[in-house]
Amino acid sequence: MPERTPMKSLKDSILESMDCEDRALLPYLPYIVQDIWTLGTDPKAIINLLKNKCVKTRDLSVLDLGCGKGAVSVQLSKELGCRCHGIDGVASFIDEARQYAKQYNVEELCTFEVGDIRKKIKELPSYDIIILGAIGPVFGSYTETIEKIKSHLNPKGFIVIDDAYLIENAPSKPGYKTKTQLLAQIHATGMEIIDEHIFSKERMEQSNLDMFQKIKLRSEELMVKHPDKKQLFENYVHDQREENQILETDVINAIFLLQER
Ligand SMILES: C[S@@+](CC[C@H](N)C(=O)[O-])C[C@H]1O[C@@H](n2cnc3c(N)ncnc32)[C@H](O)[C@@H]1O
Repeated sequence: MPERTPMKSLKDSILESMDCEDRALLPYLPYIVQDIWTLGTDPKAIINLLKNKCVKTRDLSVLDLGCGKGAVSVQLSKELGCRCHGIDGVASFIDEARQYAKQYNVEELCTFEVGDIRKKIKELPSYDIIILGAIGPVFGSYTETIEKIKSHLNPKGFIVIDDAYLIENAPSKPGYKTKTQLLAQIHATGMEIIDEHIFSKERMEQSNLDMFQKIKLRSEELMVKHPDKKQLFENYVHDQREENQILETDVINAIFLLQER
């Protein structure tokens, strides 16, 4: 019997996906990431993967699980005319996603809602594309994740996963698997990787630095505003630096396009 990943609370699921350990930080996260629209994945890379592999792109239905501030959904709707449904557990992210949809004139194509994607998925219909954009193991392992979302995929539909995997033979890192291990989990579900985008080290360094500077600045403002919580914000900045170090040296960052075999 494969191991089942225990279900975390929504708060812990959100915190883990934002590489954050302390629950006390949750109310401050929207403030800390206020200058960042794309919180994890790269909308342009996803658009290119889909353009290469989809026979038609207009009118595709897309489910964006853990959509954050809607960076992927809004840009997919704008560039490819897809109908996107984004769900995220942070209400203020969803407010921002709706504002971006308005700003980009894709309100008609984008629907955003607040919710726990592990519960919401059960009520949803089928889509042509399901996106998991840098949300981490919210649904468990790859096998558990695909098993939970596959029944909401139309025939010949695609799953897009932004993730990182450990360089083969590198020392193990908590939370990261090698590509061989990921492939075994994917194949166990009857799906396969049909295309992938690999991010270069330089690209990762550049985007991490850009995000890190924004996070650091806002965290420092909070340290001044709430001196009693200085340690909390310092720890977050420290953890972000460490996570970036791993992302730039020990793992390969990639976006996978999956389809039924
Ligand atoms: C790193 S961010 C990525 C956001 C977006 N996909 C992007 O790339 O900009 C991870 C997102 O997953 C959301 N999340 C994590 N667990 C969740 C859950 N159980 N239900 C809903 N959203 C969740 C977080 O709130 C956060 O916005």
